[in-house]
Amino acid sequence: AQVRAEAATLTTAEAQENFRLHWLGRKQGRLKLISEAWLKSAPAEARKPLGIRFNQLKQQIEQALEVQAGAPKTAVAGIDITLPGLVREPGIEHPLLKAMHEIVAVFHNLGYSTNLGPQVETDFYNFEALNFPPNHPARDTQDTLLVADQQKKPSRDRLLMRTHTSPVQIRTMVAQAPPVRIVIPGKVHRNDAADATHSPIFHQVEGLCVDTNITFSDLKGTLDHAMKALFGSAVKTRFFPSFFPFTEPSADVQISCIFCGGKGCRKCKHSGWIELLGCGMVDPAVFAAVTSERRKTDPADDAYNPEKISGFAFGMGVERIAMIQHGISDIGHFYSGDMRFLEQFA
Ligand code: PHE
Repeated sequence: AQVRAEAATLTTAEAQENFRLHWLGRKQGRLKLISEAWLKSAPAEARKPLGIRFNQLKQQIEQALEVQAGAPKTAVAGIDITLPGLVREPGIEHPLLKAMHEIVAVFHNLGYSTNLGPQVETDFYNFEALNFPPNHPARDTQDTLLVADQQKKPSRDRLLMRTHTSPVQIRTMVAQAPPVRIVIPGKVHRNDAADATHSPIFHQVEGLCVDTNITFSDLKGTLDHAMKALFGSAVKTRFFPSFFPFTEPSADVQISCIFCGGKGCRKCKHSGWIELLGCGMVDPAVFAAVTSERRKTDPADDAYNPEKISGFAFGMGVERIAMIQHGISDIGHFYSGDMRFLEQFA
């Protein structure tokens, strides 16, 4: 009768376990005690009927447990499993990486492949091979984050945080003969104070194309296509003379303002145009630096002879592009981890 009464209350796993221990426990279980106190000391003639009843009781207990195990559980040790579960939201791609992947994809579709390089770079790759003169202002510690204790090394081996993705142009050409068509996405570092449009760490996508007969028209056509792919086919581009030590001629690329369609608004300072990236034809001095590196392993190397090949390069800031695409006014949102910002891109 006691087993029957208890069996009716076994609604939780905890209750079942207590019931099992109470009756079947190896050391202190009721059955064990019954067997020791009564069965073993029973007079011979009582043993058989007692044994039968003992086995019936044991079966009854085991049955009660089996029934419970087979029954659907509606409650588990203090947890109401009929409550709705905690939903784990699927993650989304961060808007910055999403923009970076979009840019890269535009160039993959044109046959470019991706190259990556180190964020801790040498002076040689970041500046020297890119034709930055020794006292160029960009080398100033105002702009460049230098690795400590490098003074004993020759200038070209001194470590710094790369200030742009352009050093990977050099690394690629040293390693590989033309034709070259690569994009280089990655983090870059500058000693800039953080404000609404600046961050000491930001992202660039670089591009490099070197082959026979590459002209400035190829550069213009490629970037015009890329801007239309990124901002819509109505977007126009225009090229302004500019300067970079590693391209000649150099240009800044502007797109017609995507907020006002080029009519002029606050976002484009009423000019109708937004400046977006830098580009130019690879400077022969860069090919010369690449060639002298390549000749360290093959003295006869002539793959980057500017009489035979030419190329263009471009570089763009990913944050800036993502901010324009989505109308984001503060670069800090990208790094805040604020869910209210991130959830807008889900
Ligand atoms: N590296 C330049 C910068 O960071 C951008 C650039 C890349 C310009 C390639 C021309 C060619 O400003």
